[in-house]
Amino acid sequence: METRVRPATLADAQAINAIHNHYVRTCTCTWQTIEETDENRLKWLKSRDQAHPVIVAEIGHQVVGWGSISAYNTRTGWSATVEDSVFVHHAHQGKGLGKLILGDLLLRAEQLGHKSVIARISGEQVGSLRLHASLGFEPAGLLKAVGRKFEQDLDCVYLLKSLRKP
Ligand SMILES: CC(C)(COP(=O)(O)OP(=O)(O)OC[C@H]1O[C@@H](n2cnc3c(N)ncnc32)[C@H](O)[C@@H]1OP(=O)(O)O)[C@@H](O)C(=O)NCCC(=O)NCCS
Repeated sequence: METRVRPATLADAQAINAIHNHYVRTCTCTWQTIEETDENRLKWLKSRDQAHPVIVAEIGHQVVGWGSISAYNTRTGWSATVEDSVFVHHAHQGKGLGKLILGDLLLRAEQLGHKSVIARISGEQVGSLRLHASLGFEPAGLLKAVGRKFEQDLDCVYLLKSLRKP
């Protein structure tokens, strides 16, 4: 079946939420600890503007992953800097979907005129760190033991991809 990436629609809210809530329950890749309601996820989707899109990957008609670029800081001086999020359905990891989604987000970020993409990743999340490194993100800082989930202290690794032309 064909795999494709497309902009998310409001009809994707539940699938996006289910993919993310799995990780809220099971994983330190998100530091959210309380599951999101479908209603709040729909509000979140409705609140997006054109400069900060959400995309989904689907196989056939099943949403198997999603990604977004969000404002990193709402002060206007930060307007060309965004932060990415990528979540692949737990049953579909390791098949290239994360790279497909993040690659698509980077192209969109560039087309939208953003200049820098930041990733904040929990220090022990090797998969996410590798994914970002494989698309040219570079180390940009480390905040030690700033997070806590499942009774573990967690580091936050900052990675940065510059979209500026040399
Ligand atoms: C992290 C995540 C997005 C990666 O997506 P994926 O579809 O599983 O990864 P891909 O198959 O596209 O792999 C991309 C690259 O990362 C590497 N990689 C992915 N998972 C890995 C793992 N667990 N360990 C080591 N390397 C890994 C792959 O080898 C590949 O590297 P390459 O291009 O140099 O060969 C996905 O596993 C996921 O959703 N994890 C839980 C949520 C999460 O951590 N999201 C990121 C929050 S910002």
